[in-house]
Amino acid sequence: IKCIGVLTSGGDAPGMNAALRAVTRKAIYHGIRVKAICRGYKGLIGGEIREFQTQDVSNIIQQGGTIIKTARSEEFKTEEGMRIAYENLRKEEIDALVVIGGDGTFTGARYFAQEYPDIPIVGIPGTIDNDLYGTDYTIGYDTALNTIVQAVDKIRDTASSHERLFFIEVMGRDAGFLALYGAIASGAEAAIIPEIETNTDQLNELIEQGFRKSKNSSIVLVAESDITGGAIGISNRLKEKYPEYDYRVTILGHIQRGGSPTANDRILASRMGAAAIDALLDDQRNVMIGIVNDEIVYVPFNKAIKDEKPVDKKLMDIIRILSI
Ligand code: F6P
Repeated sequence: IKCIGVLTSGGDAPGMNAALRAVTRKAIYHGIRVKAICRGYKGLIGGEIREFQTQDVSNIIQQGGTIIKTARSEEFKTEEGMRIAYENLRKEEIDALVVIGGDGTFTGARYFAQEYPDIPIVGIPGTIDNDLYGTDYTIGYDTALNTIVQAVDKIRDTASSHERLFFIEVMGRDAGFLALYGAIASGAEAAIIPEIETNTDQLNELIEQGFRKSKNSSIVLVAESDITGGAIGISNRLKEKYPEYDYRVTILGHIQRGGSPTANDRILASRMGAAAIDALLDDQRNVMIGIVNDEIVYVPFNKAIKDEKPVDKKLMDIIRILSI
């Protein structure tokens, strides 16, 4: 391999820049040229490509977002889009790709690899959702979790002053990791996540046992999802039964995607970025880099995307018991 292309795609995640830095410098260290592709697959089709030197990734390890921008591309899903992308890669003499992103990014990579198998692709998991199978953590998750905890701490101040019940909605697409672990870390009274059904009776119990008897404020973290109904859906359901309580809903939203990456995310990104180049040098293709029990592993794209990463359901008991 003489030259690699690198891109970030899908929702941005804190630590993507640290991964880009690691990929760039590790490749150059091994004598491989690096071309940064701006705006993900969209920029690959549009030919937004420029060569990176080591100094192009200076001073970015601490920056949130992605300096090479990101996008979600509909065109890349078409045969024509992929053909143009392939021609651009050939024109730029790029003979392998490193893609940093989440399940949409790897789904795109997988289809592209089927159409054009002569370009090996290695993926780096960058998403705050932590929803990729085959790695303990994804880049950005730890930072987002810390952002959630800081926000919930602040909401708790006002919740207890006003003796209110707060439903706080966090991101995660269809995965409950941010809600579940965010609830434990912030001492919330409950987490409502798509992986575990919470019926109205259980919610009622929460109010009866906690809010009504012993507590004057409560915090419930709700994972955004059609399955949970989100924080607004849940609070509406409860309002019918307990109209006397003072409820508020806070949707944390995109604040969870920003900010300087935590040390853990920077380390994860640096290790995974370097491992992606090792993987290519080792003739690996169409795999995502994962870290399991502190060891680097290679996970085929279809497994990373398709297999469901299980949440530890026992943690729900911890939340319940520790909030009595
Ligand atoms: O995948 C990351 C994520 O932040 C999800 O948690 C969320 O559902 C989605 O992206 C939001 O996407 P967008 O920024 O395109 O609205």
